[in-house]
Amino acid sequence: MAETSWNVKDKIVLVTGATNGIGKVTALRLAEQGAHVVIVSRSAQKCAAVTEEIRAQSGDAGVEWIAADLSSLAGIEEAAAEFRARHQQLHVLINNAGGVFARRLVTADGYEMTFALNHLSYFRLTELLRDLLVASAPARIVNVSSDAHYGGAMNFDDLMGVKRYSSWGAYSQSKLANVLFTYALARRLEGTGVTANALHPGFVATGFGRNNGGLMGMVMPLAHLFALKPDKGAETSVYLATAPDIMGVSGKYFADCRQKESSKASYDVAAQERLWSVSEQLVQRVAAPSTSGVAA
Ligand SMILES: NC(=O)c1ccc[n+]([C@@H]2O[C@H](COP(=O)([O-])OP(=O)(O)OC[C@H]3O[C@@H](n4cnc5c(N)ncnc54)[C@H](OP(=O)(O)O)[C@@H]3O)[C@@H](O)[C@H]2O)c1
Repeated sequence: MAETSWNVKDKIVLVTGATNGIGKVTALRLAEQGAHVVIVSRSAQKCAAVTEEIRAQSGDAGVEWIAADLSSLAGIEEAAAEFRARHQQLHVLINNAGGVFARRLVTADGYEMTFALNHLSYFRLTELLRDLLVASAPARIVNVSSDAHYGGAMNFDDLMGVKRYSSWGAYSQSKLANVLFTYALARRLEGTGVTANALHPGFVATGFGRNNGGLMGMVMPLAHLFALKPDKGAETSVYLATAPDIMGVSGKYFADCRQKESSKASYDVAAQERLWSVSEQLVQRVAAPSTSGVAA
């Protein structure tokens, strides 16, 4: 019989970007509630150390890690393949890994880093694990976006910032992409028992922005003096993964554990579908990697 209530205990949960900040606290809180948590981040060393920390603090021996660079399509595919080799079920996917980059960086696939890590990793990992989520339904997809998306615009003629790059422009575009993607995904998941929601965690003192040198590297630690602690910043992610009262709620945007309106631009169905089809093209690796901006 189909499950009609929700309890995260014994559910299998995958959290990306869980060696630091919001993702790390999210993984810990879910392990404390009895979920079997798989964390994904780049460094095997950090993954192993954080896994031990979460095990010790939650008393849960079931925590696991997968090391993968989610800025590259090969890394995303490896992470998904490794997860599938270990698990036949997935109940909660939390797409959380992300960053802001002061200088324009290019990934192994020739894509701009912010767009690749913050959006394409969410899109591709979800695509590669979607059948598992559907087979495990009820299941939940949680996409960590940001209120930065309110100031974002999709520059479809220069998604990769080749003609013009600004770190905040690239970041807010990627976070708008998270919301557009969530809404398009929720439509595709209707009737499957899998929900997809996006959220803003608040302004949180994490490693966010500290990967950069220069002005951003100097300003961020100061700005973080006024920011929320990661514990507070993880609350809405944990809520969306665990709350029984949002069973069946899908295609919504949340902050402070409450639904709220996202930007006007995020409700543009044509933009949602355009982003979906561009993303589908970008995650195909048969063609030579693009080094130019993708116009669509
Ligand atoms: N902090 C805020 O104020 C704030 C506000 C709004 C939204 N958000 C969003 O919250 C999410 C988490 O951010 P955070 O503030 O917790 O940042 P953070 O402390 O910098 O943590 C980022 C996490 O992502 C992982 N990561 C970075 N690059 C990766 C890659 N290429 N492949 C795999 N994993 C990677 C990092 O692990 P490794 O370095 O070990 O790979 C780390 O675990 C992001 O999506 C961000 O946009 C944050």
